[in-house]
Formats: sequence, structure tokens, C-alpha cells
Amino acid sequence: MANNQWYKELAVYQIWPRSFKDGNGDGIGDLWGVLEELDYIKSLGVDAIWFSPLYCSPNADYGYDISDYRKISPEYGDNELFKKVLDEAHKRGLKVIMDLVVNHTSDEHQWFIESKKGKDNPYHDYYFWRDGKGKDGKKPPNNWLSVFEGGAWEYNEDLKQYYLHVFAKKQVDLNMDNPKVREEVKEIMKFWLDMGVDGFREDVITFISKAEVRPNGFPLPICTGLEHYKKGPHIHEYLSEFRHDVLDKYDCFVVGESPMTDAKTALEFTDEHGDKELDMMFLFDHMEADCFMTDTIHLPFNLKKMKKAFANWHKTLDGKGWPALYLENHDHPRIVDRYGDLNYRIESAKMLATMCYMQSGTVFIYQGQEIGMTNFHLDSLDQFKDVVTFNNQKIFKKLGFSDNFYLKVANKTSRENSRTPVQWTSGEYAGFSTTEPWFHLNPNYKQINVEQAENDENSILNYYRKLLKFRKENPIVIYGDYKEHYKESDKLYVYERNYEGKRLLVISSFSDKPVTFNAPEGFNLKNGKKVLGNYTTEKLTDNGFIMNPYETRVYLFE
Ligand code: GLC
Ligand code: CA
Repeated sequence: MANNQWYKELAVYQIWPRSFKDGNGDGIGDLWGVLEELDYIKSLGVDAIWFSPLYCSPNADYGYDISDYRKISPEYGDNELFKKVLDEAHKRGLKVIMDLVVNHTSDEHQWFIESKKGKDNPYHDYYFWRDGKGKDGKKPPNNWLSVFEGGAWEYNEDLKQYYLHVFAKKQVDLNMDNPKVREEVKEIMKFWLDMGVDGFREDVITFISKAEVRPNGFPLPICTGLEHYKKGPHIHEYLSEFRHDVLDKYDCFVVGESPMTDAKTALEFTDEHGDKELDMMFLFDHMEADCFMTDTIHLPFNLKKMKKAFANWHKTLDGKGWPALYLENHDHPRIVDRYGDLNYRIESAKMLATMCYMQSGTVFIYQGQEIGMTNFHLDSLDQFKDVVTFNNQKIFKKLGFSDNFYLKVANKTSRENSRTPVQWTSGEYAGFSTTEPWFHLNPNYKQINVEQAENDENSILNYYRKLLKFRKENPIVIYGDYKEHYKESDKLYVYERNYEGKRLLVISSFSDKPVTFNAPEGFNLKNGKKVLGNYTTEKLTDNGFIMNPYETRVYLFE
């Protein structure tokens, strides 16, 4: 059984600021908009906000390329306004966590500008500068490819050296082996913690240590070299240092983003009996039930794959680590389009929330998820904006696919799908702004919006509220154990939870056809109370029922 700690009981709402709400009428979401909607956020029943980066950034990767870690971008407001949002959030009992992006800085960060000035510049070693190979030194130091944009090395004519960028060209990898860089990171953490923030979501944090000798990597279409930094030689050392020197001194929590990490590896970072470098990690395996490795390589949804991922987390982390439960964020298309069914948008969105958030773990909900926002359909590739979309376009082209084909792929799989402005009303610009928004509105805002959802007792929004309230009032959801039934079913996801003599049975159908459900041995549904569900029917057939399309029910046995 897990030890109780406050961060375990949180439900966190993620704001991707550019598309949340525009408060000053320039078409770009901002902190004025957030201030207007704090009561709405609170009304969901969440306990915290995670802000995707708000700092100064040239927006090569929309905020994930930071040019000043201590300054809020003028597009979003300023530090004073941020402090006001922070205080107002705290007044409402909402904690606030910031995105900490320290694998790389923007190439427009002062450190990088200095580091380019010469090999003897004190900032030169803040980054990975290396001589090229070949007679003229114009071959990159190794074969590494970036995750986002071609080769991982970029040549600088003045210095006649290459710098490393594991992501986009404008996202320059910091040399964490340099103790001065680690001191900078600690100072940045302190700056925000001293201001009163309650923790961090640490961006691709497991990538921050890179092998000293940088050998060639196993050739892949993207991110060749990954094996040399995915969990680099000093990663535990550096994260322990941050923990002991900073985090331990504050009552805060940290969630690390860790692509390509399994639950067993996550324990190395989060074990409650160990150093506990991070409190929890965002794993990715449950998001790979309809794709291969990356969203871009789309496959039909495979329920068993998803169930296995969840089961594996609970088995591996049980009593030692803590899961971060999420279905959406700014890096993935919308979940109803993926694991749900647009023909049953409302039913399947409620079902997905139930099957995920009735599990043990800290809850993360992404803006718009609570009203069941969906993917878009853009008509041409030049309507997209993200560096990743364009990189993938090049890769598809190289592999012989037409742009027309790729357009279909991008519409289905691009992370830009989750970045359309939040749909507040059916009115002009969806109530997001008073002017043309920076990015396309999904035309379905006329039907799908917060205002509509507020006025409909049976909306997805109101279901999220009920669900979060139930979670809060019933510690079994947070601390109960996990036992799965009908593991082999490719239509049903059924699990039970046990805690202090109570039992919970969570039954979800992933089928658009009726499915027969019989209660697992040891359960008599007549003795249980149906506490949550997405259909009003209560009818039982013996000790089971015929499930409606995408039906979900939660029974509590006291
Ligand atoms: C993380 C962020 C993503 C960003 C990348 C590079 O995966 O979530 O949005 O592009 O890191 O910083
Ligand atoms: Ca604005």
C-alpha cells in the first residue's frame, strides 16, 4: 500500500497557454485569460494547474525553447501578472506547477549567444560544442539525428564547430556535465519555488545526461543516438543533486516526462524507499495502443495493449512508486478520436475518463478534454504550424509518400490537433478571443463548447465534475489496490479496487455494439451501489447486464 502524500491526491489541469483563453484581444491565449477562468478551473474539482511554458521564447517549439527562464513572455503577461494568477489560484486552493525545460535552451538565450562568441567564452561549455570530422571538419561529429529536425548537429561558421540539438535546431542541448549549468538549473528552480509555485513538470528530463564519448547510434529514421542519452550515465546523479539541493527544501512535487521509459525503469527514479529523484513520471506506453512508438505511425486501437500497460504500471509501482494518469496533453491528438468513437463522442469520452481516472495515480486533465474536444481537419499542409509536423512531412517524402497522403496522416496524428483554441462558447471566435485566433478553431465549436456543456446536466463536463468529486470523497480510488478481470477481452476493461474493507468494480466497454457483461466471481451486483455511469439504465440481467455502446459503470460495495 502506498504512503499517503498530498501530491497523490491531486487532480491537475494542464494549461497550454497559447490556446487556453485570450484576455487582451490579440488572438493569443494569455494569463489575463487564465485569471478570468480560475473559477471555472476550480469548479471542475481539480486541485492544481500545470502551466506549459510561459517564459520568454521565440516559439520555435511554442515555449519549449526558452530564451529567459525568469521572465514571463510578454505575449502571456509579465511576472507581476503571473504572481497575481499564482496568488489567486492559491486563494482558491489550487496549487500551481511550472514546466521546467532544462534539456535545452533557445538559441536566442543569452547563454548561447555568449557561448558562440569563442571557445574561451565562459559560457562556451554550457553547451555541447564539438569539432566536425573529415579533412575540412565539415562532417558532423557522429551520426545522431534529432527528434524534431534533421541531423542533431548544427554547424557554426564563426566557431567552425558543431553544437548538439536533440530537438529542433533552435533548441540547443545544455551540457549538464558542467557543474555551472547544474547550478543555474537549481537557481531557476529556487526562483520559482521562492515565488510560491508548488512544483514542476520536468520536460524530457530523462534526456539531460549524454554519454561523454558520443559514439554513433543505431540508425533510425529519427533520433539516431537515442540510446546514448535516453538514460544517460549521470542522470541519477544529477536528479539526486536537484532533489537534495533544492526540492527537499520545499513542500513541492515534481513529475518528470520520460519518453520511452517502462514502469520498471521509472522505479529507478521514483522509488519511495530510495532517493526519489522524481515523485512520479509521465510514461507513454498506455498512449501507444493505437500506434507504433510514435503517434505518427498509426495502427488500429488495441484495447489489450492499453490494458497491459496500465496493469504493468500498477504491478510494478505498487507500494513503491506512483502513476501519473493522463489521456491527453499538448503532444498528442485528442483521445476521443483515438481510443473513443466520434459516433458516440459523449458516451466514449465519459467512459475513457472513468476507465483511466478510477485508477490509482495523480490525475492530469488537458484543457478541452473535459468537454470532449476533437481533432481537426485541415485542408493543406501550409495550415499547420509545428516543427514536428514539417519534419515528419520530410521523412514521409523521403520514404516515397505524397504530400496528399501525409496530409491525411497529419490530420489524424499530429499533436497540433490538441492545440486548437479552447471552445468556450458558440459565439464569435468560440469565445476564445475577440479577434482572429493565432491558430485554427475547430468548426465544431458551435456544438462543442463550455457554455453548452454548462447548460447540459448530462454533459461530459458535468460528468468530469462528478467523477472528480467521487474520487475526492472515496480514498479507495486513490489508495485501493488493483485487480483486473477478463484480461483477454478485446471489448471490455474491467478491474476492481480494494481498500479498508470496501470494493469498487469499474466496468467499461470499448465496443459500439451491445456486449454481455457478467460480474466476476465474488461480486453480486445487487449488493453494490452504482456510483457512476454514462447511461441512466440500471437494469440487471441476473448478475450482469447488456452493456450499451461505450457504456461504463462503477459499483461500490461497502
Ligand atoms: C516535450 C514537450 C514537447 C516538446 C519537447 C521538446 O516532449 O512536451 O512539447 O516539444 O519536449 O522540448
Ligand atoms: Ca492575448
